[in-house]
Amino acid sequence: MAQPLSVLTTTSQLRRATARWRAERERIALVPTMGALHAGHVALISAACRRAQRVIVSIFVNPAQFAPDEDLATYPRTWDADLLLLRELSVHAVWAPSVAAMYPTGFATHVVPAGAALVGLEDRFRPHFFSGVATVVLKLLVQCVPDFAMFGEKDYQQLRVVEQMTRDLDLPTRIIAVPTAREKDGLALSSRNLYLSAREREQAPVLYRMLTECAQKLLRDEKLKAVLRAGAAGLERAGFSLDYLEARHVHTLQRVGSLDEGPIRLLVAARLRKTRLIDNVPV
Ligand code: PAJ
Repeated sequence: MAQPLSVLTTTSQLRRATARWRAERERIALVPTMGALHAGHVALISAACRRAQRVIVSIFVNPAQFAPDEDLATYPRTWDADLLLLRELSVHAVWAPSVAAMYPTGFATHVVPAGAALVGLEDRFRPHFFSGVATVVLKLLVQCVPDFAMFGEKDYQQLRVVEQMTRDLDLPTRIIAVPTAREKDGLALSSRNLYLSAREREQAPVLYRMLTECAQKLLRDEKLKAVLRAGAAGLERAGFSLDYLEARHVHTLQRVGSLDEGPIRLLVAARLRKTRLIDNVPV
């Protein structure tokens, strides 16, 4: 049965709600999002409901993680549909601060993550990104002080950066990784899939298909360099402009030369005209 959903927009409302729950010894899980909710977010929310009595979903399109030439202005905002969905999912609260509440005039403190944030991959193409993510995620974790916070493997480097920050800063929250939710044809769900034209939507599943093909070849002992080269060529042939297709160590995200240096993860970022898609698979 659907239950009342509190829409919280100020830190004092948020603190009152979380203090009440904590006094009742209820565990709290936070699912940080930028809204435009889809089945990937739902997977995180379901995982949160399994671990905690109280679930907060934050919806905040974080300006700090967009470069000036990126899609902050056009990022999909589907507030009414998001609330409808959250009501159906037994979520207790949505934390939706304004930009002015999150970054008041004079805001001057930023988190600058190193480690997994500086190994290349996303950082090479979006150098502003992880500082913006780490800053907002730290604020969300401090505001909500959840027992658990759920992050998707879809954004694998982001997950590693958040885990490292949580460890380094002794935050009392356990970060939970949730596997990537996919469309039937394999395309990883993403708010940005809404940008794809009908033709691009048909091309898009090649990204995941190519990743799984590369993973299978590696398991058959084919050479890493050759597998990645063939994968990159296949993606370009299918109409993608490739940012990267790489094999990295699952924990450090450092480069690896072969399967023996693993466990490894294959990570890809590629563009179909204006839409940038990312994905990754284990090997
Ligand atoms: P957003 O893109 O809205 O994603 C919110 C969370 O949902 C992230 O942890 C992301 O990895 C997860 N997610 C997205 N697509 C998924 C999928 N197909 N399967 C499983 N999980 C998926 O990531 C962000 O927002 C922001 O950077 C944020 C962490 C909220 C900080 O602003």
